[in-house]
Amino acid sequence: MAHPAESAFITACRGDRPDHVPVWFMRQAGRSLPEYRKVREGVPMLASCFDTDLVVEITMQPVRRYGVDAAIFFSDIVVPLKAIGVDLDIVAGTGPVVAEPVRSRAQVDTLRDLVADDVLPITAAVEALVTELGPTPLIGFAGAPFTLASYLVEGGPSRDHRRTKQLMYGDPDLWHALLGRIAQIAGQFLRLQVQAGASAIQLFDSWAGALSPADYRTYVKPHSEAVLASVADLGVPRIHFGVGTGELLVDMRSAGADVVGVDWRVPLDDAIRRLGPGAVVQGNLDPTTLFGPTDVVHAKAAEVVAAGAAAAGHVFNLGHGVLPDTDPDALARLVDFVHAQPVPSA
Ligand code: CP3
Repeated sequence: MAHPAESAFITACRGDRPDHVPVWFMRQAGRSLPEYRKVREGVPMLASCFDTDLVVEITMQPVRRYGVDAAIFFSDIVVPLKAIGVDLDIVAGTGPVVAEPVRSRAQVDTLRDLVADDVLPITAAVEALVTELGPTPLIGFAGAPFTLASYLVEGGPSRDHRRTKQLMYGDPDLWHALLGRIAQIAGQFLRLQVQAGASAIQLFDSWAGALSPADYRTYVKPHSEAVLASVADLGVPRIHFGVGTGELLVDMRSAGADVVGVDWRVPLDDAIRRLGPGAVVQGNLDPTTLFGPTDVVHAKAAEVVAAGAAAAGHVFNLGHGVLPDTDPDALARLVDFVHAQPVPSA
């Protein structure tokens, strides 16, 4: 049987041209799928992330339904924090909520290293998935230090990240200590997933676009760099993604990414020019396009595929996650459409 390493997805991640344009979707598992809503009935989000059988089932659902080129392990960026004992919950319709926002040295010191025993149900799920997926690669993931710090410091989702920046500017020593702790934990979480069989990893710095390039370089990049460097020896492609990061793409690449995720605000050919020679990109159809007519969705998808030709490698994706009320049939048609496109040559 073919091995994930020979898949179209891994081939594109390595900067080569596979026989078709690989496609998967951020948040492909989740509320847009009726079969997801059914198995999640009565099970809180975090409980489902620590339930091996549920993680396997939910991860497989979009692979079965859409025939996407990669699975992304069902979990959440706050799971490793929960696993080391941070009192937090994921509230439906809101997101992660932290009981005691982290703003003091004593609180940072409670963020201990993550060890294999903390996430046994999760690594068991990764192992089972790798067997069940066969030739289809599994993507492991973690939240990047800035995005996780934002949830920890704010205590929940934030529009402007003002308390996060208050700590960043007001107490840089404590800030770097906090991001250093998170980088360690995120790196360990990724390592455990790859050791359990994941074929690639994605570091989600979803909210990094809130930062100026100068602040990104001073306060954040060294920590994301530490996470990506900590898994470099494992030899799997490392994808680095954030939203609204048009001005940060070059830095996100040089932080140690093999593949740069691009949101929909930057035209993909522009992003590729900014990144320079040898860049491999992932993206970047606007997720709300899927609420438009099929011919518009496909015309825009064709533009993304054509733009991707200028990169050394291109993985088709949305520019951010699938919205919960997206019609799954629209995603199924999109996968078929992308797969039917000839692989463009540069
Ligand atoms: O992509 C996938 O299919 C894998 C699963 C996945 C989830 N969260 C499941 C989830 C991944 C990769 C994440 C990462 C994540 N979590 C990020 C980074 C990616 C991004 O979207 O930018 C962030 C910022 C979070 C934090 C978080 N967790 C948010 C903002 C929410 C949504 C809150 C809501 O209810 O609208 C969550 C909860 C969450 N994570 C859900 C899922 C399927 C919804 C919970 C539910 O189904 O009850």
